[in-house]
Amino acid sequence: MSIIGHKMNVAAYMAITPNGMVAKDATRMGFGSEFDYNLFKNKVEETGNVIMGRNTFEASRRAGNFPHKAFNVVMTKKSIKNRFGKNVVFTKEKPEGVLRLLQSKGFENVLIAGGEKLVSSFMKEKLVDEIMLDFEPSLFTKGIRFFESAANSEARLKLLEVKRLSPNEVQLHYRVLK
Ligand SMILES: NC(=O)c1ccc[n+]([C@@H]2O[C@H](COP(=O)([O-])OP(=O)(O)OC[C@H]3O[C@@H](n4cnc5c(N)ncnc54)[C@H](OP(=O)(O)O)[C@@H]3O)[C@@H](O)[C@H]2O)c1
Repeated sequence: MSIIGHKMNVAAYMAITPNGMVAKDATRMGFGSEFDYNLFKNKVEETGNVIMGRNTFEASRRAGNFPHKAFNVVMTKKSIKNRFGKNVVFTKEKPEGVLRLLQSKGFENVLIAGGEKLVSSFMKEKLVDEIMLDFEPSLFTKGIRFFESAANSEARLKLLEVKRLSPNEVQLHYRVLK
């Protein structure tokens, strides 16, 4: 995507079940394997930044996974006191404003970690260039389905890569067509 004439690559990265679920509810940390979580963590550290919604922040903090070793942006309308230091920002900015903030810090690649609401809001505004979905071998029915809050939006994707991550896990990597 292009912000103020500069190119930025915005990727969303999530674990998903074969029936499209990305969480059991808004508060619990993932259902994925530790192996997969480490792949995600490496991707965050390699990118140098990560954007997340407030529910994901709270779930990660409770699980002891916050902050990541990167510049962490938490999007929330609430006023949350930052007790985590200068690599964490709580912001009321809209998606495009958050991308401008990361651009002003010199980032050309941006990673959105979720949750579903946050990724959908960036998708609705056509701000996502790539989606990486790690398929975890698990099925459940009650939960949050990927893209469910992007009401009435549609997206067309181009498959860039299929990667076998482990004997039990596969990653589909897509480009979002504009
Ligand atoms: N499968 C995966 O890879 C994966 C990844 C991440 C998270 N998760 C799981 O997903 C669940 C949380 O996902 P979620 O969809 O409920 O919540 P979320 O996307 O993490 O957070 C949503 C909240 O962020 C705030 N927000 C601020 N700006 C926003 C915007 N532009 N668009 C949307 N939200 C914005 C709002 O809270 P305020 O009231 O504070 O404004 C909103 O209610 C947790 O269980 C977490 O463990 C799974």
